[in-house]
Amino acid sequence: MKRIAVLTSGGDAPGMNAAIRAVVRTGVDRGWEVFGVSRGYLGLVTDNMMPLGARDVSNIIQQGGTMLNSSRCPEFRTEDGRLKALGSLRRRGIDALIVIGGGGSQTGAYALSQMDYPVVGVASTIDNDLYGSEITIGVDTALNIALEAIDRLKVTASSHQRAFLVEVMGRDCGYLALMAGIAGGAELVIIPEVKTDPEIVAGELRDAYKRGKGHALIVVAEGAQYNAQKLAHYFQKHHERLGFDLRVTTLGHVQRGGAPGAFDRLLGTRLGAAATACLSEGRDGVLVGRVGEVTKATPLAEVVSSKKPLDVGLLDLARVLAK
Ligand code: F6P
Repeated sequence: MKRIAVLTSGGDAPGMNAAIRAVVRTGVDRGWEVFGVSRGYLGLVTDNMMPLGARDVSNIIQQGGTMLNSSRCPEFRTEDGRLKALGSLRRRGIDALIVIGGGGSQTGAYALSQMDYPVVGVASTIDNDLYGSEITIGVDTALNIALEAIDRLKVTASSHQRAFLVEVMGRDCGYLALMAGIAGGAELVIIPEVKTDPEIVAGELRDAYKRGKGHALIVVAEGAQYNAQKLAHYFQKHHERLGFDLRVTTLGHVQRGGAPGAFDRLLGTRLGAAATACLSEGRDGVLVGRVGEVTKATPLAEVVSSKKPLDVGLLDLARVLAK
């Protein structure tokens, strides 16, 4: 191995910079040249990359986002785009690629590895929906940002005895909502994995007030059958009968842009270092992630064909804790 390249793709996640830094510095330590690809797969398709030395990744470990920039690249989903990407790597004599990103990015990594190109993935997405890593880079920071917002909203909800809906990201996965709901002491959590009936939601709110609660806070996942907007609309439409106004706060991208906390800096560092270790051992076509207390490499074929389970039993716990 002489030359490797690293890219960040898909939604940025706090801790990606720590992973880039670890890839560059452990790569340099192994005597390799490391190239940083700009804007994810788009940078491969358009041959936009530059050499990175140890000093080029100074002062980034504490920063959110990604110094390499990111994008979603429809062209790379076509065979023509992937051939262009492969052409850029081969022309520059780059022996292997490290892809830091979530599900869509690792599907791209798998496609390249199927074209006989050595690729190692690093598990990074705030959604925590990637098979092969119990926790992915960015989740912990995103959760803490959501919690800060929930704590603040509870103050106002309590002062005015109001009901609030807080929508968190997560695409089709309810992990962020479930964890933020439990850690934030929400009255109710709504996730895509479980069907929502707005009438039952109204009943649960009524019960909460009957139990003497001074306010109600509902955490909703953006991918739920009834997201915050739809739920608020339903309550508005049936206002006379249901008798509730639901105030909506959609956290959106605010959750992604924070400065990484200690957990994500350490996770990014560990996984970045594990990625170059894999390549130096001649292992590729894998995703490095955290399973239990260890860093583990899982074949990309398994990663892209498996669904990460969510412990929906925790919804019952959230319900009991809201009593
Ligand atoms: O995958 C991360 C994520 O933030 C999801 O939670 C969200 O649905 C999506 O990306 C938003 O994508 P974009 O930044 O392209 O709008």
